[in-house]
Amino acid sequence: MQILVAPSILSADFANLASELKRAEVAGADWIHVDVMDGHFVPNLTIGSPVVASLRQHTKLPLDVHLMISNPDQFLKAFAEAGSTHLTVHVEACTHLQRILSQIRLLGMKAGVALNPATPLDMLTYVLDDLDLVLIMSVNPGFGGQEFLQSTVTKVRALRQMLNNAGRHQVHIIVDGGINASTASKVIEAGANVMVAGKYVYGSADMSLSIASLRGNSSTRPRHHNPSVTGNHHT
Ligand code: DX5
Ligand code: ZN
Repeated sequence: MQILVAPSILSADFANLASELKRAEVAGADWIHVDVMDGHFVPNLTIGSPVVASLRQHTKLPLDVHLMISNPDQFLKAFAEAGSTHLTVHVEACTHLQRILSQIRLLGMKAGVALNPATPLDMLTYVLDDLDLVLIMSVNPGFGGQEFLQSTVTKVRALRQMLNNAGRHQVHIIVDGGINASTASKVIEAGANVMVAGKYVYGSADMSLSIASLRGNSSTRPRHHNPSVTGNHHT
């Protein structure tokens, strides 16, 4: 699969979001990652659907909206109307996960599920046909700039295997938290194909270079067969 980079605006200048979007777009971003936090599901507050609606006016890139909120079912329609392209909910926040995923698709968005670092992949077993994206948290959600948890690599490898076994090869595996050129190459090798990065991209002096470095390692590297990722065709 093609490697995609989704800069997280959590590390952007919130007083200048339009120009921060443009900066990422010019530097080669594929998606824009938007972190929505409610101060309840996670110990931090950020932005809501009105800000997504404003962002929508300033970029044509897909808006990859990551809901770190309790009761996400109450907000699906608002985020759809705001122009979200992808809507990702946390499995830990959903009592009726299958219903929520199906509603997200009915509202015309791609449906994503996010898993905290301690949450097992088993939670996905019966919803594999209902999702388009899986977001693996590689830090505990709530803040940018945290250190990547190494256990993520094993988890990503197992998830790609799980998706391949189910014939769901097209599902995106997104990794979010502590992504830089070095951690990106590890998770890409394990089967992830979307790199979310906040501090590494927005904190860098040369954004084009930092974005390229997140995919460069894999796309320029010769393909090799790794028995543990059999069937994972990087196209
Ligand atoms: C964390 C957010 C991330 C965050 C990643 O809760 O979900 O998207 O912006 O930031 P970095 O890349 O700085 O770890
Ligand atoms: Zn995020």
